[in-house]
Amino acid sequence: MALFVTFEGIEGSGKSTHARLLAEHLRAAGYPVVETREPGGTPAGAAIRRLLLGADAPPLAPLTELLLYCADRTEHVTEVIRPALAAGRVVLSDRFSESTIAYQGYGRGLDLAVVRALDAHARGGLVPDLTILLDCPVAEGLNRITGRRQSPGQGGAAPSGAAPLELDRFERETLAFHERVGAGFRALAAAEPARFCVVDGAAPIESVHARIVAEAERRLAKAA
Ligand code: TMP
Repeated sequence: MALFVTFEGIEGSGKSTHARLLAEHLRAAGYPVVETREPGGTPAGAAIRRLLLGADAPPLAPLTELLLYCADRTEHVTEVIRPALAAGRVVLSDRFSESTIAYQGYGRGLDLAVVRALDAHARGGLVPDLTILLDCPVAEGLNRITGRRQSPGQGGAAPSGAAPLELDRFERETLAFHERVGAGFRALAAAEPARFCVVDGAAPIESVHARIVAEAERRLAKAA
């Protein structure tokens, strides 16, 4: 019953929330579920995540950024995803390849053919069975992120009384950058309609969750 599901979307699109809700639903239904994320799904990945997104992350050339996300992916696929799929588990990953193509390709403007080739090599040809794209207006997603950062105690922000957390290298990017990333995600979904399920990240959480559950159950029935 192995199934590989990825969640993609811009900052604040709700993908992490919906990955968690789907995991809870599937576990309650008796499926063995592995919840993971990129970057940072392995010990090496956690170090790469700090280098990319930590509070003291250094400036990085776009190509360095791309190579670090690819290195994180190789560790993730080798150490976590493939072994879990081989053991018949359902793997839910908060971000995967489409984030690299959307952020480093469409967002940063790196050559798309190079980005695609490096990503394909990094993931060793592994392709998700289902990719959920949480599509959400950029302004709304960024509002959610800055709200989280500036309201201590809400949704994992700084503890009460602490200074607001710094925005990371992507959260600080321009609206135009995030618009390019969002357009990239939509182009990727349009090119592979059979693998993607595009949901409205700004819609009420219950209806989005119901749609995601229905889609995951359909794929699980097909995989059985
Ligand atoms: P998140 O885990 O909070 O979504 O943060 C991950 C950040 O890293 C997010 O801004 C998107 C970015 N990212 C890339 O630019 N390329 C990638 O390949 C991945 C996986 C994430």
